[in-house]
Amino acid sequence: MGSENPIVSLEDIVIGYETESPLVSIPNLEIFPGEIVAIAGPSGIGKSTLLGTIAGLIRPISGSITVCGAEIPSKPLRGALGYIPQKLGLVRHASVRHNVMLGARAGTNDRKERKERVTNAIQQMGLKEKSREPIRRLSGGQQRRVATARTLAQRPRLILADEFLSELDEETLAMVLESVTSYVKDNNSALIVVEHDISRAKSMANRLLVIDDGRVNPFITKPKAVVLNS
Ligand SMILES: Nc1ncnc2c1ncn2[C@@H]1O[C@H](COP(=O)(O)OP(=O)(O)OP(=O)(O)O)[C@@H](O)[C@H]1O
Ligand SMILES: [Mg+2]
Repeated sequence: MGSENPIVSLEDIVIGYETESPLVSIPNLEIFPGEIVAIAGPSGIGKSTLLGTIAGLIRPISGSITVCGAEIPSKPLRGALGYIPQKLGLVRHASVRHNVMLGARAGTNDRKERKERVTNAIQQMGLKEKSREPIRRLSGGQQRRVATARTLAQRPRLILADEFLSELDEETLAMVLESVTSYVKDNNSALIVVEHDISRAKSMANRLLVIDDGRVNPFITKPKAVVLNS
């Protein structure tokens, strides 16, 4: 990794929704091409908030975030940053294909290339039979796979994935995980994944960011983030 530029840099970041009640502070962190970083921690601690902040959807209380050399939020970055939110953000009345096409559109202007990407991503996620179904008629795990396909069709430099392996049986989970991790390795992209299952997080990630509410000082309610090398 050595001399490569980081895909993501977090500097003195404090996140949350209100200045007076910060959720998490994070030590300076750089994520390099090919890296997979997992974020784990209890429910409600701020994992999704952290991902949404890196995605540029929530302003950090303080500090700065750089993705591919551009400070977040940055409009020109849209195609380089793929986000699989915990609540998925799919267009529920539209088909699987339409939703995956939204990812391809974010990633390329070439119409032929878009179609190929959509077909491949749908196939990879095992959704070929469902490609014309509206999202609302799919199971929870199928919907999660549509959101993953949408991001794969975008072919971003950075993937932010929030609990994207929930609701999947072991076999489907292995398939989805393999597709996403090989995408990251083959394209020298980076993946930040929120994963509440610690052993799964450890097995997929190069680094694990554990957010706990270290009650070191009872007057500081801020949880602390610890970066551990796996
Ligand atoms: N839009 C919002 N405005 C204000 N507070 C919010 C908002 N969204 C979440 N919160 C609060 O921020 C805290 C962290 O929420 P977040 O969704 O980041 O947790 P999480 O670690 O992802 O939890 P889970 O594992 O359950 O998904 C919670 O206390 C939640 O109530
Ligand atoms: Mg969450």
